[in-house]
Amino acid sequence: MSDVNITSVLQETRTFVPPAAFSQQAHVGSPAAYHELWETAKNDPARFWGEQARHLDWFEPFQHVMEGQMPETKWFTGGKLNASYNCVDRHLKTWRRNKAAIVWEGEPGDTRVLTYQDLHREVCRFANVLKGLGVTAGDRVTIYMPLVPEIVIAMLSCARIGAVHSIIFGGFSADAVAERNNDAQAKVVITTDGGWRRGKEVALKAAVDESLVKSPTVRSVVVLRRTGTPVAMEPGRDHWWDELMAEATADCPATPLDSEHPLFILYTSGSTGKPKGVLHTTGGYTLATMLTSKWVFDLKDDDLYWCTADVGWITGHSYVCYGPLANGTTVMMYEGAPNWPDEGRFWELIEKYKVTIFYTAPTAIRSFIRWGDQWPQKHDLSSLRLLGSVGEPINPEAWMWYHKVIGAERCPIVDTWWQTETGAIMISPLPGATTTKPGSCTHPLPGVVPDIVTKQGESLPANSGGLLVMKQPWPSMLRTLYGDHERFLKTYFSEIPGCYFAGDGARRDADGCFWVMGRVDDVLNVSGHRLSTMEVESALVSHPQVAEAAVVGFPHEIKGEGICCFVSLTGGDGDDALKQHLKEHVRRQIGALATPDMIRFTSALPKTRSGKIMRRLLRDIAAGRERVQDTTTLEDYGVLAKLRASEE
Ligand code: PRX
Repeated sequence: MSDVNITSVLQETRTFVPPAAFSQQAHVGSPAAYHELWETAKNDPARFWGEQARHLDWFEPFQHVMEGQMPETKWFTGGKLNASYNCVDRHLKTWRRNKAAIVWEGEPGDTRVLTYQDLHREVCRFANVLKGLGVTAGDRVTIYMPLVPEIVIAMLSCARIGAVHSIIFGGFSADAVAERNNDAQAKVVITTDGGWRRGKEVALKAAVDESLVKSPTVRSVVVLRRTGTPVAMEPGRDHWWDELMAEATADCPATPLDSEHPLFILYTSGSTGKPKGVLHTTGGYTLATMLTSKWVFDLKDDDLYWCTADVGWITGHSYVCYGPLANGTTVMMYEGAPNWPDEGRFWELIEKYKVTIFYTAPTAIRSFIRWGDQWPQKHDLSSLRLLGSVGEPINPEAWMWYHKVIGAERCPIVDTWWQTETGAIMISPLPGATTTKPGSCTHPLPGVVPDIVTKQGESLPANSGGLLVMKQPWPSMLRTLYGDHERFLKTYFSEIPGCYFAGDGARRDADGCFWVMGRVDDVLNVSGHRLSTMEVESALVSHPQVAEAAVVGFPHEIKGEGICCFVSLTGGDGDDALKQHLKEHVRRQIGALATPDMIRFTSALPKTRSGKIMRRLLRDIAAGRERVQDTTTLEDYGVLAKLRASEE
């Protein structure tokens, strides 16, 4: 943990009670109903989760609800189930078999609807395709695709046969794909020729080809035709999706898997340069995403639910695919950018399809505000009944705009706090029960027992800033970091003994509402996406002209946090052309999301006498703050003046 210095300055006093009409129809419709659920879960978690788990379909019942202490807790041991079966097959036994599972629109405007029956047929066929490529239970499969229905088909096909999917967001570079392929030792990669983004084609297959030069474990590549642009196909290794599917039958019963069988790996950034392979397992994850979707989004059979996240992030895993599908919900998916062909695209989609629940990120909301109210105002958004936010703290002004302009002061807002590691939403309002406050994620969900503590693990009183921890295990907790259990224990369970440490600073107010203030480690939150400062630093120093680099975040109007890089060169002064070149270099190494906003050349970095870079000081300089922290430990005072003069 780097320098923890948490003071919360946000004072927000507005409160919003759920509309009575909403509460009356909600799954959890009053504060009393919420409290009862929460208390029951806290006092007797085994009984609570055991009862809830009966909402899943099991091939064999579990013997124990939970076994072992955190962090080694195992859930629903002895039980056998299949996530794909729970998301698809079980709906075929009901009237939902002909209900739309996925309503999809591509960026160019092409559309598709898949019923649960259609989804079942496609998943079974693709699961047979995977088997035909020699994929068996436990094998890792990389998925690197745009937001097309086949990404969900690919995930559920893996889950169906017990293969472990590892999805890499389509915005990551070839190098990032290679690194993740190698860490997971992936056998197969599933991709497309390309995808559409703001009218341009993202060349995914070309990136896969480049990555495979460095990923020796990959034996086969399956390529879905999306854009139709010709791509290189290596005979024996590369196969067209449609050609393999034409040969595959739709008969593929779901494999009964142990509750703790791995479901997926998802790479996320930590405070070192190497991405962490967060591993989730079948029973606990499927249960928690199903229940939280139902509680937080109040899902009903006539909803059209739209979570705008890409499936390549945890939000897409849990709340585009597993959670809503396990509830038999109709899920909206849109492939492209919100401002293509113009800034009204999202609102046009809401009007066209009559979306009822809309879940997006604060960074998107800040862009909508900047584009202007005229875009949403052109469209009829009266189908909406609930709004959600995720990924970073939402600033109260953005919350109020969302409430007024999109929600017409009618729709509750659920600000959902959670992480790749938690698998499912942890702290969030329940829309029919919770009084909300702009900027607060309010109360923990049933089964979640958080606290705010000091670095020594002591609980803090109301309104004191501290570290956010979890005191009880929950079913969708990550089980390990793939291939590095030591790092798992060290990262999450060694800072505060006996607790899961989330890496966030937060406070709890006098009403028990949580206010998350952001990361306390060297992790940036850029547009709701996690990036480690070290990852960007390693990308920079891999350039021959860079001697040393220090990367910090600074407040950014749209992205939340921007990336500022202080760079010292091996020789010469550096100019604008080199800045541009280094930005491009980082982009190539990691992906577009890591492109630096600012590069500042400096002859030296501020260090302590023991050689540690003083990041707090750099953060002040990057943010243009004059108030500079205690610098008594600084080794060379001259560095400060030079740094300030390095402005971009
Ligand atoms: O800092 C918190 C922030 O995002 C981090 C988790 O990032 P990731 O694993 O990429 O998952 C993002 C989507 C779940 C957290 O440690 N964060 C996420 N949601 C919120 C948030 N911060 C404040 N309020 C939120 N609602």
